[in-house]
Amino acid sequence: MKYFLDSAKIDEIREAYESFGIDGVTTNPKHIMDSGKSFYTVLEEMGEFVKEKDIEGWDKFPISVEINPHLDNADEMVEMGKKISGICKNFVIKIPCTDAGIAAARRLEKEGVRTNLTLVFSPSQALIAAKNGSLFVSPFIGWKEASGEDCKQYIQDIVDIYANYGYLGETQIICAAVRTGKQIADCAVAGADIVTAGLSVFKDSFYHPFTDYGLKRFQNAWDNTITE
Ligand code: E4P
Repeated sequence: MKYFLDSAKIDEIREAYESFGIDGVTTNPKHIMDSGKSFYTVLEEMGEFVKEKDIEGWDKFPISVEINPHLDNADEMVEMGKKISGICKNFVIKIPCTDAGIAAARRLEKEGVRTNLTLVFSPSQALIAAKNGSLFVSPFIGWKEASGEDCKQYIQDIVDIYANYGYLGETQIICAAVRTGKQIADCAVAGADIVTAGLSVFKDSFYHPFTDYGLKRFQNAWDNTITE
């Protein structure tokens, strides 16, 4: 399973890439706002990063960039999608799963601009992303689980539907708004292609107190053994 970092902060992207090898990045307007930089400055920094690391191209290191969320007309969405994708070959255009967004994603894919259908909250929304050939679909997990839903079956349903119709791997499932190591494991058990999460979520998922406990035991044993 691939790990994408959900962030627009270049220092976090660098750390995650260099320390545990993320496979791509997702952003959204809130992450860009939180970076404290302008939209196009963030895009420029990401373009420089992929050049520096020699990972240019959406097939090597996809970076999802969301269009202006106020757009509600397919023509304008397509126009902005093309503008963003022209800036860097790594950019995948993130579009909301609305009527206009579905039409715009379909048109962009036909013109060779890769898309990520986002704000997906049901298997039927995920199905239209695959039917229209989007590179990615982003079912959100954390928001649903925060209100009491268990998303294991939700992700499993999307995986099963994609398997039924040959979409698996063609439209890759990015489990989004992931908050915990358990959710990462649930997505992996279901067979999702990717999880996207913040840096602290990944770091927490690597941690287990028994690892620290075991390390202390072994350090104690080492200290009480002749080792030279
Ligand atoms: C995913 O692609 C989104 O950017 C993200 O997961 C949105 O949710 P969050 O900001 O609540 O995590």
